Amino acid sequence: MISDAELVDHARAVRERAYAPYSRFKVGAAILDERGRIHVGCNVENAAYPLGVCAEASAISAMVSQGAKTIVRIAILGGGAEVEPCTPCGGCRQAISEFAGDETRVLLIDEKGGVASYRVAEILPMAFRLKS
Ligand code: THU
Repeated sequence: MISDAELVDHARAVRERAYAPYSRFKVGAAILDERGRIHVGCNVENAAYPLGVCAEASAISAMVSQGAKTIVRIAILGGGAEVEPCTPCGGCRQAISEFAGDETRVLLIDEKGGVASYRVAEILPMAFRLKS
């Protein structure tokens, strides 16, 4: 069983590989899928700013590419020089919701540097979903 701390460690490690020369805000995300595998992603910016990709979207692409369909748990970690509280952007909340349920846990670094756990329904109330 993958612990919360272990998932956060994966997010922390992939954050180091983020390509964020413009914002200098590096983000890492690690997803635990339905088969117990971990998929990671980091933000990848571009000189044409809108082309930048968030860490969560990158991790979701990696997960889907490997044939997985469900986010069981996701850890997100970001910041400038140091890790600081980083909540997923609105678009990423919707992207996470596509592969998660209302009760799926999203792990974030809290104000004190600890791991805070939120439910998807908490960070994205009334999520838009086509499936019933
Ligand atoms: N970023 C993410 O990767 N995920 C988020 O949920 C918030 C923002 C990235 C995008 C951009 O590369 C940098 O953080 C600053 O906005």
